[in-house]
Amino acid sequence: MCGIVGYIGKNQAAPIILGGLEKLEYRGYDSAGMAIISEDGKLTYEKSVGRLKVLDELTHGGSLLPGHAGIGHTRWATHGVPSNENAHPHFNEAETIAVVHNGIIENYIQLRDKLTKKGYKFHSETDTEVLAHMLDRYYKGNPLETITRVMHRVEGSYALGIIFADHPDEIYAVRKDSPLVVGRNEEGCFIASDVPAMLKHTRTVYYVENQEIACLKADELHFYSIDEEELEKQPTEIDWDANAAEKGGYEHFMLKEMYEQPKAIRETLIPQNNPRIRSNDIVIEELNMSDEEIKAIRKIHIVACGSAYHAGMSGKYVIEGLARIPVEVDLASEFRYRDPIIEEGALVIVISQSGETADTKEALHLSQSKGFPVLGIVNVVGSAIAREADKVMYTWAGPEIAVATTKAYSAQLIALYLLAMKFARVRGTVTDEYFKELLEDIQRLPDQVEMLLESRKRIQRFANRYIGAKDVFYIGRGADYATALESALKLKEISYVHSEAYAAGELKHGTISLIEEGTLVTALATQEALYQKTVSNMVEVKSRGAFVLAVTNEGNKDIEKAADYVIHIPTTNQWMANSLAIVPMQLFAYYVALGKGCDIDKPRNLAKSVTVE
Ligand code: G6P
Repeated sequence: MCGIVGYIGKNQAAPIILGGLEKLEYRGYDSAGMAIISEDGKLTYEKSVGRLKVLDELTHGGSLLPGHAGIGHTRWATHGVPSNENAHPHFNEAETIAVVHNGIIENYIQLRDKLTKKGYKFHSETDTEVLAHMLDRYYKGNPLETITRVMHRVEGSYALGIIFADHPDEIYAVRKDSPLVVGRNEEGCFIASDVPAMLKHTRTVYYVENQEIACLKADELHFYSIDEEELEKQPTEIDWDANAAEKGGYEHFMLKEMYEQPKAIRETLIPQNNPRIRSNDIVIEELNMSDEEIKAIRKIHIVACGSAYHAGMSGKYVIEGLARIPVEVDLASEFRYRDPIIEEGALVIVISQSGETADTKEALHLSQSKGFPVLGIVNVVGSAIAREADKVMYTWAGPEIAVATTKAYSAQLIALYLLAMKFARVRGTVTDEYFKELLEDIQRLPDQVEMLLESRKRIQRFANRYIGAKDVFYIGRGADYATALESALKLKEISYVHSEAYAAGELKHGTISLIEEGTLVTALATQEALYQKTVSNMVEVKSRGAFVLAVTNEGNKDIEKAADYVIHIPTTNQWMANSLAIVPMQLFAYYVALGKGCDIDKPRNLAKSVTVE
């Protein structure tokens, strides 16, 4: 995780670096630091524990660190607690070389032992510090050569920003398995872990590939291979609206992103340049599969982490239900180590908002190594998974900044519905009339989500009663179980209220013992065929003292007998109800967290892009 930035150019570097780091705080925010080379080749730096604003205040907005080149870092601790010593940048003993790092150096213990024997002293518990000392060890005045020598010796993942005090007119950047972009405008060059960090300054970016090195000067940009050969690279023009990564008047990114869900759904259904609904049919060009190939699919493996995994769970119900293809859903961290059996005729789908989740990326590599092409459902354009997957179906949710995902999750659901419908149509497992109904329903979702968002005041009032809650349970059957999982995750990640999801039928097998007088149990009851069964489970918990909140379809009036509070969702088919039921659950989590005064966009201990396993 962690975010790195760097700048060299005509302007003062420190304020630009602070501005870039602010945009990357979603990647980690337990400490921060930056190192700047002054005009006379002196390397100065500052580090601080806590949020970026501490560093900002400490350096008076960067003005205390003058100079036109520098690197910065915002940290999510992996090796060693958040402290000044462990914060980046890290330095060689003479403090003439500085390095910032996102990733993990896997052989750092061996490297540290070797360096210690050679007399190097370590001041932190981090894996990164070995890089600073190794650079020192090999440095004879040629930065490029030194960097490649270090690259040959380290194992693991890294995106690095490096400065050498005796090369004040250059900064270096290099990556392997961690994201890195380089940007350029008339006044200078930039490095960053992610595009939003430089969007204020430039839209012309270069995606650095694995084991490539970038050398940035104020008005020159060079790329090299690990063999020190110069490379030709083409820039990419970023066409997003710069405001997309700003709060735009909302109190939190999470709230803004919840409100962007109708748009995210619309864009995923009908991307501007390539609509996926055309002439009453579904066209997913990027799938690049003939009808024969679709008919030949015998099994689908969906692999993902976190909310993307929950989207995959919903995908299982809808694909199995509509297209009658067996679907196995795996957590990427499990899949990659269990030597999964992938048989002839299988389609592997990985789902990831960021496109850089380490476990998901490894699951992709593993499937490819077994000879199975992978379809990636990805939100971040040009991200590692998008580049490495054999086929990419983008969710067009736009940049998502809040750590807890909302709009990207909603867009992932839509991508999966589209695939399910497409497969069902081609395989003849739905009638023409039913397909038509599904097409109408899916296009109604954006407006229906909008309606649900309008009820936010009511949900806020309800949520305020649960600010002091200790435990909250979510239950559901069938596709509702997938929504229950995502609802419980939303609540726990941002409000720190312990919450758990159970398949409603499983309650009796243990969980019911946790119900006490007043415990909130939220029952998701949108699956008509299972409705009465869920209602019975609600009655069971209510009679043991639970306060029951039910989320159900419009028209289900009788549920009021079994519930204390009811939220109705607009009418849709059973497969798409998840897209609607999740909205009040997101709002509930948000308002409980708001009431508790939590840092909603940056929950403790979490990071948005989990680039370590
Ligand atoms: C983190 C985020 C979650 C996200 C998960 C998977 O835990 O906080 O919101 O669902 O990673 O991330 P991905 O980018 O692969 O969807």
